[in-house]
Amino acid sequence: MKIIMLGAPGAGKGTQAKMIAEKYGIPHVSTGDIFRANIKNGTELGMEAKKYMDQGLLVPDELTVKILLDRVAQEDCKNGYVLDGFPRTIPQAQVLDKALAELGEKIDYAINVDVPDENIIKRMSGRRACLSCGATYHIEHIPPRQEGVCDNCGQPLVLRDDDKPETVQNRLKVYHDQTQPLIEFYTAKGVLRTVDGTADMKDVFEAIVSILN
Ligand code: AP5
Ligand code: MG
Ligand code: ZN
Repeated sequence: MKIIMLGAPGAGKGTQAKMIAEKYGIPHVSTGDIFRANIKNGTELGMEAKKYMDQGLLVPDELTVKILLDRVAQEDCKNGYVLDGFPRTIPQAQVLDKALAELGEKIDYAINVDVPDENIIKRMSGRRACLSCGATYHIEHIPPRQEGVCDNCGQPLVLRDDDKPETVQNRLKVYHDQTQPLIEFYTAKGVLRTVDGTADMKDVFEAIVSILN
């Protein structure tokens, strides 16, 4: 099964993608997590991506597409995957489509996690992330067992550099300008399904599972 998660920054794409990946035994592929891991390790790619990410801008398509196509070509992706944060532009979606078509494959579902802008900023300021394993928490909704420490791997939790309120505003604008048109793109392909992302995360997940089953 090949699934795309769509939605504004902070809509809960990553939270839901992790649960989907676990339930269906497919990898969770997040371009944002790949970039953050590269930044943490000080790679050339990381340094380049950081210039854009810190301003809330998209990393250029050329860079992003290559990374994603390399990732989904790996052995663990052969039975499907859940994409989180990719595609984010129409050109990215077209490249993915073409690459899949060449393999005789296609996207099965694009799940749009719908959350209004007003809710987003509140969520982001409470989010804490583990840059080692990609786990995310929320200081009120999903606190870690020990404050500031990742439950999975014991590494310190941080507020992401791009979760400052000014940057979140930019990310929302970029989302509406460049990513939201994908809703129409996948509607036209008959694979778009929308869930209410303001509900409790367990209820959001139930809604997604009833679509996938
Ligand atoms: P990326 O890492 O993809 O960030 P994003 O899309 O802005 O999304 P987030 O990860 O911030 O939010 P999310 O929807 O995953 O929400 P989460 O589950 O954490 O990208 C970062 C940057 O990398 C981009 O800005 C860009 O520069 C670059 N980039 C990445 N991919 C790219 C691409 N394809 N092309 C170009 N550039 C790219 O949830 C948010 C918070 O809410 C958490 O604290 C969570 O615990 C909480 N929460 C989740 N669900 C609920 C709920 N139902 N109720 C209450 N709280 C909830
Ligand atoms: Mg995420
Ligand atoms: Zn961790």
